[in-house]
Formats: sequence, C-alpha cells, structure tokens
Amino acid sequence: MKFFVDTADTAAIAELNALGLLDGVTTNPSLILKSGRPMDEVIAEICGLVEGPVSAEVVATEAEAMIAEGHKLAGIAPNVAVKVPLTWDGLKACKRLTGEGHMVNVTLCFSAAQALLAAKAGASFISPFVGRLDDLGLDGMAVIRDIRLIYDNYGFETEILAASIRTVNHVIEAARIGADVATVPPGVLKALAQHALTDKGLASFLADWQKTGQKIL
Ligand code: E4P
Repeated sequence: MKFFVDTADTAAIAELNALGLLDGVTTNPSLILKSGRPMDEVIAEICGLVEGPVSAEVVATEAEAMIAEGHKLAGIAPNVAVKVPLTWDGLKACKRLTGEGHMVNVTLCFSAAQALLAAKAGASFISPFVGRLDDLGLDGMAVIRDIRLIYDNYGFETEILAASIRTVNHVIEAARIGADVATVPPGVLKALAQHALTDKGLASFLADWQKTGQKIL
C-alpha cells in the first residue's frame, strides 16, 4: 500500500519523507487555508520535497474553468496531480486533463457509482472519503470494498486512494481490502507506530537494564 500524507504542512511532510514513508501528498482548499500560505508557493515547495504525486485542487465549478485552473496547477511541477471534484463538470475536466497526459485525482467521492464514472473518465486516482461517510453513521469502508471489486471486475487502472482517514483501523482495513493508496493525516501516520505493549515492554526492559549497572557506550 502506498502512503500519501494529507496535509499542506511542509515541516510535517519533510519529517515523514525523511523516514522514507511518503509516496505522495494530498492537499485541499481547507488544508491550504490551514497552512496560511499562498497555494502556488506551498504546492511548489511540497513538490520539491516529495517525488510522488502531489494533489492540488481546483476551485472552479464549471468544466472549462476547472481545466484552465488544472493547467495552471499542473504547470507548478511535473508531479502535480490535478484534483477535481466528483461532479458532472469535474468528470468532463478529468477526461480532458487525463487525455492531455496530466495526473488527475477525482475527489469528494462517496459512492461506488461515482467511482465507476471516474474510472470511465480516465482518473488516475479516485478518492472515496471514508471518515465523512462514517460520521453520518454509514459504512465508509464498504464503499472502498465495492470500488475494489468493481475495478477488479473490469480491470480499471484508476488507483483507489482511501481518503478522509481518521484512525489506524481505517488504514489497516483499507490495506486489507487492497486500496492502492491511503492518504493519512500526519498524526494518524505516526499513530501507526504506537502500541501500549511496546511502551510497557520498553519501560520494563529499560528498568531491568538499569539494574545491570552496564552501559553500551
Ligand atoms: C483527500 O484528499 C482529502 O484531502 C481528505 O482526506 C479529506 O479528509 P477530511 O474528511 O478529514 O477533511
């Protein structure tokens, strides 16, 4: 499974990337707002830090305007993936931009039906939002499962990018299903390393080591 980090915080991206953990980055307008920085500047910096796809989202709602914004965003760096919303106009923009050779991430996907259309429109990535479905008492992971089944039935090459990931269990479930990518907030990526028994075991080993009176260095 590939890991993308879902943030526009360049310090967090640099730290995770130094560990070799990152295969890409996703941003959205809310994350750009949170960064407090101009979008073109922050996307350019992220693209310089990470080799993989860096999603930058259009904000127009009409296809031709989305395509124009997509051209501008794709011009920032060769590893920009243009992010378009899963609307009828977004699908038109996806078809055109992928036809021109750009990577396109179709976002705000909440159903397998939407994902099927995105694959037909040639999307490089489809982003089903697991957490936002769970927030409504629905089963976000069931949508990932359905998309995996449908894409495999027909050999669609669109990568399933599990998004709106809130917990370690979301990551593990998405991996069990075979989602190609999970885009994960930095805090959840770090939480993947945590286990109460690791902490407990380490405390006990360190206490015993102190009793030996020895030093390694
Ligand atoms: C995906 O690319 C989105 O940026 C993101 O995963 C949305 O997550 P949220 O529901 O936590 O805002």
